[in-house]
Amino acid sequence: MKNESGKETIESLLREGRIFHPPSELVESSNIKAFMDRHGIKTYEELLERAKDIEWFWSEMVKETGIEWYEEPSKIMEWNPPYVKWFVGAKYNIVHNAVDKQVKIRKNKVAYIWEGEPGESMKITFGELYTEVSRLANVLKALGIKKGDRVTIWLPMIPELPIAMLACAKIGAVHSVVFSGFSERALLDRILDSKAKLLITADGFYRNGKIVELKSRADEVLDKAHTIENVIVYNRINEINVNMMPGRDYWWQDIVKGHSRSCDTEILDANDLLFILYTSGTTGKPKGVMHAHGGYAVGTASTLKFIFDIKEDDIWWCSADIGWITGHSYIVYGPLILGATQVMYEGAPLYPQPDRWWSIIEKYGVTVFYTAPTAIRMFMRLGEKWPARHDLSTLRLLGTVGEPINPEAWVWYYKYIGNARCPIMDTWWQTETGMQMISPLPITPLKPGSVTKPFPGIDADVYDPNGSSLNKKDIGGYLVIKKPWPAMLRGLWEAEEKYISTYWSMFDNIYFTGDAARVDKDGYFWVQGRLDDVLKVSGHRIGNSEIESALVSHPTVSEAAVVGKPHEIKGEAIVAFIVLRSGYEPSEELKKTLRKHVEIEIGKIARPDEIYFVTDLPKTRSGKIMRRVCRALLLGMHPGDTSTLANPEAVEAVKKVIS
Ligand code: PRX
Repeated sequence: MKNESGKETIESLLREGRIFHPPSELVESSNIKAFMDRHGIKTYEELLERAKDIEWFWSEMVKETGIEWYEEPSKIMEWNPPYVKWFVGAKYNIVHNAVDKQVKIRKNKVAYIWEGEPGESMKITFGELYTEVSRLANVLKALGIKKGDRVTIWLPMIPELPIAMLACAKIGAVHSVVFSGFSERALLDRILDSKAKLLITADGFYRNGKIVELKSRADEVLDKAHTIENVIVYNRINEINVNMMPGRDYWWQDIVKGHSRSCDTEILDANDLLFILYTSGTTGKPKGVMHAHGGYAVGTASTLKFIFDIKEDDIWWCSADIGWITGHSYIVYGPLILGATQVMYEGAPLYPQPDRWWSIIEKYGVTVFYTAPTAIRMFMRLGEKWPARHDLSTLRLLGTVGEPINPEAWVWYYKYIGNARCPIMDTWWQTETGMQMISPLPITPLKPGSVTKPFPGIDADVYDPNGSSLNKKDIGGYLVIKKPWPAMLRGLWEAEEKYISTYWSMFDNIYFTGDAARVDKDGYFWVQGRLDDVLKVSGHRIGNSEIESALVSHPTVSEAAVVGKPHEIKGEAIVAFIVLRSGYEPSEELKKTLRKHVEIEIGKIARPDEIYFVTDLPKTRSGKIMRRVCRALLLGMHPGDTSTLANPEAVEAVKKVIS
């Protein structure tokens, strides 16, 4: 960046208060600069000011992202708090922009460059994508899937995952993708909650050199998944003995044969449901966040175009898994709508050795790269010798998402991956927001650790508990969004009350994010973390109570309190305090059993890092377990006023085990 050199030390780069200016060539050639020039906007501040007219701004974004409606909207937005409709009256289907339109203008352009963990590499053009999506869409129709029906997709990072999502959307069905790292129990819960009629999965996939089976594990719960009528299984591995139930289960590769290579895209209302994605909240049960076709298309594509500056010849790589919102928005819909070429990788980052990612960047000439702070901290620990083995000079922009990034990791990423040349877009957003909300643009001066300013058209603020703005006061408060945005969630699947109580009950008609943040005197946002009982472990969102529910479902466990503890790489580590049922004794063996049990109930990502057996847990008089007290004790802090506890002696019990 300006006046910087790759030779500066980490210490000098970390100097307090240092501002990193993007290189002027990048600014001058950026999409956002071109947009500003077209509208006679001279400065970043003026841009943010002009975009306060959200109807103007988002209708410009429709043009900028090449969104084509089947029928034009009669109104940009209709806000009946807490429900919003965008592009009211428009007829639309996101697949029109993501696939159908691309075939007309970029038929032979590569959409996905896919690399399997064992090393195979494959390219799929937009033309091929169209064919595969259409063939599967025809299969779905033949199996009786109709508009509005839910389809659960439990697939790994193979091109068939976006193909399956797009095939659902093409016929107006609603997809519900379940992360392939979740357990079969988690899959079952999500199938039952959404009442999915069809499951699309694979025989298995490769991770860290091993085969992870999917279909055989799904079989263990399919007898309870009574809503499922059919299962489509993609044969990824070919060496696994898979049991196929005649009349219910079909191999993907077989069933698509004979189906037409084109399929009409269902003409929907722009506000029809596109997908449900389950995410963790404060209760034991994940909630189904709902997103709709039109607004989501505009929100994801415009942020990708202007934050990550995607142009026709870029090679975009977002290292997230499509099982999370980052992958939905920035591996599937956003990049396809922009007609971008992207890299998709199946496996683990350190396999077979810690330079796998850097070899991928070099091999395919990745120009814009988006990952999570946890990954950066992990690579930082492994040392710069691994990226140094590769030519990363094609990179021009970097990004992070999912959790706060500490300035040390930011500066390491900047120096050793970006060679002090590539600005870092630290993007704050959520499953619920669907799109990046607070983030630098390529023209924004950067402060390491700050997500800088809201995207144009996004009205973010920090409130005190009474709803007064703490903007520019540099005091921590509640991060809120004051006006609707196009990719805003449309509610929670069959949980209207929860939707209202979670997001809209803290402040009148104002969206509460669940995060704490502060805004410094320059208007820069610093996100401090979750205010509710939701953990961020390696950037993954897991509810404390979800893990507690899993633990107490084990016959040895009577009560459990799960809390987070700062962790150098993962951001947060999971710590469980457990009261055993009478007749059971604490042991190392039992700790292992309980970790395994959580893995079976939720998945590996939710396994506690530490388990403490206690005789009692601090509780309120109404019997609520006080996680806050456990956490304070764990971190060596004062537990606050414990006089209101029903059992103050439990404080000693907890202290004893952690000392
Ligand atoms: O706490 C914030 C954190 O991740 C939460 C949202 O998690 P999820 O819905 O899983 O989506 C993650 C990917 C979009 C937020 O409430 N978070 C996300 N991005 C950042 C962040 N915290 C700090 N800085 C970020 N850039």
